[in-house]
Amino acid sequence: MKPLFIAGNWKSNKTTTEAMEWLANFKAQTSQIKLDNMALVLCVPFTLLPVLKEQIGQLPMALGAQDISPFQDGAYTGEVSGRQLREFCDWVIIGHSERRKNFGETDELLNKKVEQAKSVGLKIIYCVSDEKIPVPSGVDVVAYEPVWAIGTGKTDTPENAARVITSIKNASHVPLAIYGGSVTPQNVQSFVKESSMDGVLPGGASLDPINFFNLITACNQE
Ligand code: PGA
Repeated sequence: MKPLFIAGNWKSNKTTTEAMEWLANFKAQTSQIKLDNMALVLCVPFTLLPVLKEQIGQLPMALGAQDISPFQDGAYTGEVSGRQLREFCDWVIIGHSERRKNFGETDELLNKKVEQAKSVGLKIIYCVSDEKIPVPSGVDVVAYEPVWAIGTGKTDTPENAARVITSIKNASHVPLAIYGGSVTPQNVQSFVKESSMDGVLPGGASLDPINFFNLITACNQE
């Protein structure tokens, strides 16, 4: 099996207690299998990063944030800087369509966020809704996520997702490209079997530990 990159996006969900329950249940599942050939990242709210970093233990899963300040440390009330994030995580999602839509994030602002992430050595999952959206240089993973597929239960076809991903890879030279938008344990195999697809970005399906575990193991089944 080819190496796969799977990043769960918890969005604005879970308290500390709920995150600890998730972790205990997920650990109980993963102790039974090897997660070879998988790079797992869990992208959680800022508030959960410290406790998850402390409790994640030997689990072969990196932590990520879901946003980053476009500025360095300083007088930017409410922002969390790259340097602050770097203390707790290795990855950050930048440019998710929910941030573009609900918070008016523009390509120009997102470029600044990418620069901040790069300056502190955070690895970047950069989200785009189609192949026409510009991808800043130096991002590590591009996630193709059609807006209409996010949280709706409707997915792109694996064939079209693979076509978009190939075109993104050709244009941006990004090392890895993945698909997101209503990925489930039931449909994940149809996406990852496409040769250009390097993995997936599940949101809703990452919230339940058993569902997330089933999604990961379903990638192995032919
Ligand atoms: P979804 O979310 O899997 O719930 O559709 C994906 C995402 O927004 O990254």
